[in-house]
Amino acid sequence: MNTMEFDFGMVGLGVMGRNLLLNIADHGFSVVGLDLDPQKAAALEAEADKGKAVKGTTSIQEFVSSLQKPRALMLLVPAGKAVDAAIASLVPHLEPGDIIIDGGNSYFPDTNRRIVELEAKNLHFFGMGISGGEKGARFGPSMMPGGNRQAYERLRPVFEAVAAKVDGEPCVAYLGNGSAGNYVKMVHNGIEYGIMQLIAETYDLLKRGLGRSDEEIQRIFEEWNGSEVHSFLVEITAQILKKTDELTGQKLVNLISDWAKQKGTGKWTSQNAMDLQVPLPTVDIAVTMRDMSAYKEERVLAAQSLAIPSNPTESSENWYVLEEQLRNAFYFAMLTTYAQGLVQLRVASATYDYELDLQEVAKIWRGGCIIRAACLEDIRQAFATNPALPNLLLDPTIGQELLKRQEDMRTVVKLAIDRGIPVPALMTSLAYFDAYRSETLPTNLIQAQRDYFGAHTYERTDQPGIFHTQWD
Ligand code: 6PG
Repeated sequence: MNTMEFDFGMVGLGVMGRNLLLNIADHGFSVVGLDLDPQKAAALEAEADKGKAVKGTTSIQEFVSSLQKPRALMLLVPAGKAVDAAIASLVPHLEPGDIIIDGGNSYFPDTNRRIVELEAKNLHFFGMGISGGEKGARFGPSMMPGGNRQAYERLRPVFEAVAAKVDGEPCVAYLGNGSAGNYVKMVHNGIEYGIMQLIAETYDLLKRGLGRSDEEIQRIFEEWNGSEVHSFLVEITAQILKKTDELTGQKLVNLISDWAKQKGTGKWTSQNAMDLQVPLPTVDIAVTMRDMSAYKEERVLAAQSLAIPSNPTESSENWYVLEEQLRNAFYFAMLTTYAQGLVQLRVASATYDYELDLQEVAKIWRGGCIIRAACLEDIRQAFATNPALPNLLLDPTIGQELLKRQEDMRTVVKLAIDRGIPVPALMTSLAYFDAYRSETLPTNLIQAQRDYFGAHTYERTDQPGIFHTQWD
């Protein structure tokens, strides 16, 4: 029996769990990992640098008893039943004050339930989104913890040491109460869906709209990554487009099935935005397009029967769209996607008492995570200047960035319409902008219709009160 007291424990030694634990060990903490699979427990020790205090075990008892008190142990197991099963097996061995951290993409209501269940046993439970994939876990992720503020102090030194750094500042911060961490990570993923869809549409416009070759498109994304759209997702797009298939010598991306799968975090983001009555159209459409991609057989049939006119109704100036205009359109839409997600966080924070600081959120998204991008510094600045900012579109700097690009945005959308290229995320990002900047919307007519057929009543613009009219 090992008598050493380890600083930090990990349950689940798959790639993510193992990599994060090795990262923690690299920063001078002693760590112990638990996995019921002896091969995974052994792999952890085999991968650790000699001289580092890293132990793998298959025994729950040994794992728990070798941790320094109050114990800090993280679960990196698949979201859902596996988390509950892991908690149930650990709890009998734990003592009051111990902290369990769930590092997976758990659904936030599950986290709320687990917090209540474990609080009754005087145990702390943290839901912590971790972003950055396998590499991020190993060399610096962005981490989004939520839970008990005092208990966080036990975790802070470990998390701040291992998180990605931007300008020397760690991409981790205590975010708020309850399921705040899982909620912020869920919205992170919703934004991730939106930006991925926008990049895919831009790629389609370059390919089918402007007829650029694979090599040209690769070069364009590479160049763009040196501009204002600089971001992890643009960077990996350029790398993906470079890759040649070893079997056929063709570009690998052209051989990949177009059915985009999903694990559910984007859908949860949209579903919850609907519950909170927050408009989130770019994320909604990104989820919809993944769903649409599954209808392959029908799309093959429809491609034959529903051709666009052979003489597209496009005006001659729309034939010429510069790559720069496309980049501007993409950036415009990218900014509106962050804006939508951050409104959702603001409303969720008030609804669920998370007490989120949106400046902090933008700050820890600047590095390590999948949606890290140069514009997050401007976004952070916007909330630093005005913490109560209702929508990024109202920030003078971000507003200017959008205004500078709106003409190009409109040109690009027109081109797509003329060519019959589906760009719903670009279109809906523009529509979001247009709707948000509309002093009046035609929803007065909807109110009249509701009152007509359902006596649902309406309010007037010229006097207070609730009104109903006998319309026919
Ligand atoms: C991250 C990613 C990560 C995961 C997504 C994939 O931040 O590191 O978001 O959490 O890759 O859950 O989601 P889909 O399978 O739904 O695309």
